Amino acid sequence: MDKEKTLKELARALDFIERGDELTQEEMKAIEKDTIENYTEYYNSGYMDFRKSCTPDGATVEWASEGEHVFDVYGNEFIDCIGGFGTYIAGHRNPEIIKYVEHQLHRLTLSSTELIEPLRGYACKALAMVTPGDIKFSYLTNGGAEAVEMALKLAMLSNGAGYFISTVHGFHGKSIGALSMTGNDVFRERYYPNLLPKVQFIEHGNAEALETAICNLEAIGEHVTAFICEPVQGESGFIIPPKGYLKDVREICSKHGVLWIADEIQTGLGRTGNLWGQDRDGVAADIMTFGKVSSGGAIPCTGIAYTQDVFDKSGLADNPFILGSPTFGGNAIACSALLSVINYIVKNDIPKTVAEKGAYYLEGLKKVAEGRPHVDDVRGIGLMLALEFDSPEYGWEVSKEMFAQNVMVAGTLNNARVIRIEPPAIQTYETIDKVIAAMDHALAEVEKRWK
Ligand SMILES: Cc1ncc(COP(=O)(O)O)c(C=O)c1O
Repeated sequence: MDKEKTLKELARALDFIERGDELTQEEMKAIEKDTIENYTEYYNSGYMDFRKSCTPDGATVEWASEGEHVFDVYGNEFIDCIGGFGTYIAGHRNPEIIKYVEHQLHRLTLSSTELIEPLRGYACKALAMVTPGDIKFSYLTNGGAEAVEMALKLAMLSNGAGYFISTVHGFHGKSIGALSMTGNDVFRERYYPNLLPKVQFIEHGNAEALETAICNLEAIGEHVTAFICEPVQGESGFIIPPKGYLKDVREICSKHGVLWIADEIQTGLGRTGNLWGQDRDGVAADIMTFGKVSSGGAIPCTGIAYTQDVFDKSGLADNPFILGSPTFGGNAIACSALLSVINYIVKNDIPKTVAEKGAYYLEGLKKVAEGRPHVDDVRGIGLMLALEFDSPEYGWEVSKEMFAQNVMVAGTLNNARVIRIEPPAIQTYETIDKVIAAMDHALAEVEKRWK
């Protein structure tokens, strides 16, 4: 290591952090250039090809955000309709959330891991108060995939190791256990045959397929540990199952002694117009995950929640460490964000706002997509809105055209034909009208030049 050179480079970056609001034009340019070079040389040059904000002439560098907007390093404003894949339900740096996170930052940040921490206790209690049915205990993690790992492990502790059933095109993350439940060949193929064994995939939204799969496995003497599904499939293109599907899932799982894991990492805490995706059918899983929104858009905070019965059968009371012992999961700053975002959502009745704005959006998007030959479908539930095109390339072009109008939309991970619009609940009706008008323009422009 060249100490002097390293410290000089670090001083540059730290100075930009410190004086981030008062940069000169030259410094802004330098940051843009550094970012492109550093991504290419030290992160992964592949990212540059996958960003619509990166062209041979330059790249858009994210520098600040507030409310419904993201700003590049030059201060250009973008309407955020991706929101960290649904993270920013309360908008960026919501003062009602940031206030508590800042207070906590000045008192206790992570933890000693030796003493017990009040905020973790308050957070778990608050979760018990807002999660559906008999769900009572929580366990806090740092990312979505980690939460899914813990849900799978807890299911095994509680119901014995055996088969998992998941859904085709379902997305549950990319760590080994979570990827083993993720139903997309592109992400799986290179890891075969080392994914978890004993996982079967069935069609999402088809309760009969679930019962058949369970019965078939039982008929050959296999044990089924759990069924995992998203209440609405997120990364496969916002696929909404028929109403009543989750009720059937609940009944089938209970009948066969199979645990139901609801992966609410994307649907949870208001996104679908209900507090939880499960609420649409008025049911509750045995184990559920949550993430994205639970960060308050401030600091990663994810987790699982589960029933007393699952806890009693898991053996966790005898040895709480056999599930996991994350250094950072449930840390004090994360809990301050979680507590404040739950407070924000409940106090402001965010699911109701999401349902109302979602209905308004859907109507507007359907209108501008009407008669467009390359649009196969427009659908949505709450503020999970999707336009499906007849090819991934067409979707990509529309998405680029939206970006050219300073509106950020994105594809979904398991289905590139779908453009997602997943804005914060604080997005104003005036901005929604702007986004719909931008979509009208984008659809017309791409249609004109499409061969
Ligand atoms: C339903 C669902 N589960 C799990 C994950 C994985 O979360 P993370 O990217 O934080 O690992 C995601 C991410 O999009 C998701 O939507």
